[in-house]
Amino acid sequence: MTTILNSLPRAELNAKLDLGWVRSNFPSLARTIAGQPAAFLDGPGGTQVTQSVIDAVSHYLKTSNANTHGAFATSGETDETISGARSAIADFLGSDPDEIVFGPNMTTLTFAVSRSIGRELGPGDEILLTSLDHSANISPWQALAERGVKIQFADICEKDCTLDMDDLARKLSTRTKLVAVGYASNAVGTINDVKTIVRMAHDAGAMAYIDAVHHAPHRFIDVRDLDCDFLACSTYKFFGPHMGALYGKRELLERLHPYKVRPNTDAAPGRWEMGTLNHECIAGVKACVDYLVELGRRTKAHAAPDPRARDGGLSSPISRMEPTIDDQRDAAQSRRELLRSAYRVIHSHEHGLSLRMLRGLAETPGLRLYGIADPSRIAFRCPTFAIRMEGHHPAELSRRLGDRGIFTWDGNYYALNLTERLGIEQDGGFLRIGFVHYNTEEEVDRVLAALRS
Ligand SMILES: Cc1ncc(COP(=O)(O)O)c(C=O)c1O
Repeated sequence: MTTILNSLPRAELNAKLDLGWVRSNFPSLARTIAGQPAAFLDGPGGTQVTQSVIDAVSHYLKTSNANTHGAFATSGETDETISGARSAIADFLGSDPDEIVFGPNMTTLTFAVSRSIGRELGPGDEILLTSLDHSANISPWQALAERGVKIQFADICEKDCTLDMDDLARKLSTRTKLVAVGYASNAVGTINDVKTIVRMAHDAGAMAYIDAVHHAPHRFIDVRDLDCDFLACSTYKFFGPHMGALYGKRELLERLHPYKVRPNTDAAPGRWEMGTLNHECIAGVKACVDYLVELGRRTKAHAAPDPRARDGGLSSPISRMEPTIDDQRDAAQSRRELLRSAYRVIHSHEHGLSLRMLRGLAETPGLRLYGIADPSRIAFRCPTFAIRMEGHHPAELSRRLGDRGIFTWDGNYYALNLTERLGIEQDGGFLRIGFVHYNTEEEVDRVLAALRS
């Protein structure tokens, strides 16, 4: 037990989530199915959104709906909406706002970057991918094989579905121009040692592209600390609307050549944003970061921010005042610290759910868990559990759980290289049960009881 507790820093262990407050923010959690409360264990496919996100989307459409850069009120408000959301995501990831690119989803953004990097690659160059990754961080890079680029794959350790770091090191060379790796597996929950992988890539002279889609709802992200060249995530996986966001180092966003239309700006980050963006969703993106900031504010364990620092009206509608550079810096620091606090309580709560789930799964006969099962290594996994049960097809299990109001996924969830590598693709892949911070211990017990029956 000591080892398990030691896997979380003390501040995280002390952090207590106000679950009642959290759940009261998500109206959809009140849904019932056949008289039973719905248990949303489908978070890895997309999380529920807060009322504030719903309000922000409809408020934008009601009051400010327009295209950008016009000389009239609603267009100006649209510009402010986008720049407010860009700053919010920059604070969420730890970058500057001009290093954030918005797009329809992570897959589209990754294809845009791969096409652009591909312009500079050819025969003799290599790209290193992993068998653990979602196809969104594989296919865009694999497409560059048509330019003569060699595609390599780092293997997994089959027993616990972690990355085989020795294999990854073996396949890295001075020919490697880019390493693309997931921060966390959307299929089996493994959290990869991305900081080490970025360093290894840079030592070999390669860029590092991180897919943080599955990591973002569970753990704090710091792109400066990782020193990654790119990092992509999707806001619909962390309580916001269906959108993608990409961080890129400023010098790369400026130096590389994206495919773009002629009248579009040549300045980063706009040169990477193709056509008109989804403005109403972008309004919702800011609201989803505000929700996490508010969660941080409510966290008992968070270190009190400097009382002189302003929060820039983080939880109020977009300010019309012109903040100074110093104001903006103070606001960004304060918002980032509150986000750090939010992720402390999220981590702490999910830690409890994961322990309970791991114990329960170990006591369930006829069940195989894919991924890290050892509770003392719980720090290296998210609360995302991929299982198979003897004599039951994953699709049948998911359907029967769905009939009882328990929402799960079955199949490969586009982690196709992984289900193929494990030899289970032809047998329906896995049943995936995914928890996020709005899930409860009762929901853990409920899904375990349903599986046993
Ligand atoms: C780990 C991971 N990467 C990438 C994606 C693709 O994200 P998007 O739907 O935003 O393209 C997903 C979606 O499920 C995912 O889970």
